[in-house]
Amino acid sequence: MKNLLKQMSMKEKIGQLLQIPPFFFVKDLKIEVAGPVEELHLDEEKIFFAGSALGIGSAEEMIEVQRKYLEKSRHKIPLIFMADIIHGYKTIFPVPIAMASSFNPEIAYQCARISAKEASTSGIHVSFSPMADLSRDPRWGRVVEGFGEDPTLISSMVEQMVKGYIGDGIEKEGNIASCVKHFAGYGASEAGRDYNTVDISKISLYSQYLPAYRKALEAGSRMVMTSFNTLDGVPCTVNSFLLRDVLRNNWKSNAVTISDYDSLKQILAHGIAEDMKEVAYKGITGGLDIEMASSAYSNHLESLIDEGIVDERLLDEAVLRILELKRDLGLFDNPYKGASPEMAKTIVLSESNLQAARKAAHESMILLKNDGVLPLDSQAKIALLGPYSTSRRVVGPWSWHGRRDVHDTLEEVLNDNIIYVNCEEDPKKYTKEDIDRIKEADIVVLAIGEDEHLSGEAHSRSKIRIPGKQEQMFEMIHSLGMKSITLLFNGRPLILDQIQQSNALLECWFLGSESSSAIKDILFGTVNPSGKLPISFPRNEGQIPVYYNHLNTGRPYLGPNDYNEYVSKYLDIENTPMYAFGYGLSYSTFNYSDLNLSTNRMTETESITVSVTVKNDSNVEGDEISQLYIRDYVARVSRPVKELKHFQKNHFKEFQSKVIEFTITLDDLKYYLGTGDLVFDKGRFQVMVGTSSDSYLSDDFELI
Ligand code: BGC
Repeated sequence: MKNLLKQMSMKEKIGQLLQIPPFFFVKDLKIEVAGPVEELHLDEEKIFFAGSALGIGSAEEMIEVQRKYLEKSRHKIPLIFMADIIHGYKTIFPVPIAMASSFNPEIAYQCARISAKEASTSGIHVSFSPMADLSRDPRWGRVVEGFGEDPTLISSMVEQMVKGYIGDGIEKEGNIASCVKHFAGYGASEAGRDYNTVDISKISLYSQYLPAYRKALEAGSRMVMTSFNTLDGVPCTVNSFLLRDVLRNNWKSNAVTISDYDSLKQILAHGIAEDMKEVAYKGITGGLDIEMASSAYSNHLESLIDEGIVDERLLDEAVLRILELKRDLGLFDNPYKGASPEMAKTIVLSESNLQAARKAAHESMILLKNDGVLPLDSQAKIALLGPYSTSRRVVGPWSWHGRRDVHDTLEEVLNDNIIYVNCEEDPKKYTKEDIDRIKEADIVVLAIGEDEHLSGEAHSRSKIRIPGKQEQMFEMIHSLGMKSITLLFNGRPLILDQIQQSNALLECWFLGSESSSAIKDILFGTVNPSGKLPISFPRNEGQIPVYYNHLNTGRPYLGPNDYNEYVSKYLDIENTPMYAFGYGLSYSTFNYSDLNLSTNRMTETESITVSVTVKNDSNVEGDEISQLYIRDYVARVSRPVKELKHFQKNHFKEFQSKVIEFTITLDDLKYYLGTGDLVFDKGRFQVMVGTSSDSYLSDDFELI
């Protein structure tokens, strides 16, 4: 690739740093892209020097674009086609926050594997996924695209997702490369408002926010997308601390960096560049390789280099990384790699892909409450109410290739049991005849929540109650004295106080292509729910951010028997969330006993085996996700009251008991300082093992 680089003109090299939508090359094609493309001031020559394309609709379109492009390319350097394949290409899996609820990284692997196989039939080479952004703020709409609030869980999910995309190597057909995003700290947007300022301490950055991006890179992500926000006042897109100190020097990563959509140009609005020439200067010196959907490099980098303001070596380094990625993707051998309308017919939306999506959906649901009404009897007569009874808008945001006509609605799958359906949410719209029919049912199933377009990018909400008149509709049903099951469709934690009186609450999130059939399986007990919350559900918006791995504070509130007035608490609400991280019920009853540590004194080179007995005290077989948390009582800096270190999912037959084992090593006791150093301190630790972050057995040990 170095030889090729030497043969390229300055303009050709700069072109490699430009990413534009594919219709620029074939103006007659109308290919979908995310967001408006503003005036880029690009002439035909500059367009045909561009190195990559954003989004593509089908194999035919890709082949046409690549062919036209290569006809004009002096060195025959192919375009890379990149796209957002977030939770499936056409076979849509549950949204990422739902997948995280499975606590089963294998689901993330399967989702990415099937996405790669399906997407590559359209000639897509790179997916802008996974999103490794940690968030503690459910007001932020992009919570739906992430894996929750915990660095260990997020890291496990993104690691497998990356591996799933890559398969047995990005050079092979059917595999694609991953671009982890949004580097870094995007999930901490102040007040949950998208694109807003981020102001986090270095210690938080290193210990909470950065580990998952790093894990994705270690797993093989070849690209990193920068985030829209600032960090320490510098937009991440040009932030040399992130892109040079952390990524290159500290993590030794050679990944290609790419801006988010138009985010290089946005440094003008951030107020850190006077004009587009300064934008280009800050980008290339900051460490940004590819500029997505703006044109500072194409229009200004050449003069910056000619004038001696920018060293050409910075350009060469960036271009070499991009050429190497093209080589490693096998594009020099076959620029049309993967693109095949024939393959698409057999691979895309195949029966086995849909089965995998259905299994993922089963594991992604969380039973939040059940007073015994679930599972339903196979003969149960159901009154099905609420907007999501008949809606197909339940696959979730970022399913731009997902086809809605392949999904059955809830009404369709529950057809044999339904005696009445109504999707109105306004209780005033129910007539006396409606009420009489509802009363004939054994139970009311309410399918309520937020529309899939109320979460996702640029879809923040300040109030996160169930919108519209759905709570009133629930009240109306409750006042009839009917038993009810509430199915929740949503892309973020919601405030659920008003619907607590429902006899059962099932968090469905957005479950993708197989949503309705999977929900039916859970309702009738063909499948036993096993998901756990990957993010805390607040009691009200005023508690936000509420998360399980908080610090203790100097005046911790010790509970109802704590009569000290001057402690860290609210006057009007408890400190605890409505539902804690790691919480989720099952149709089985799991009991924990006999927590045992192989030793209570561990040296730096030893490990501790932690064992616990888990018993399924019911006649229903099911899966339980057991979680191990650690607290470091005394360290150089204040440490969280607990941190998830390990989790495992086990299957239990009726009344089966198992001894579950975890291993604690020194790595589990290490933590980051604000300097980025990973350290540990000898002394006392607490180990907690249980069914959620607020229900566990515990013991202490010492690191000597
Ligand atoms: C989003 C990214 C996405 C990109 C390209 C941006 O608006 O923030 O997550 O990958 O568009 O579609």
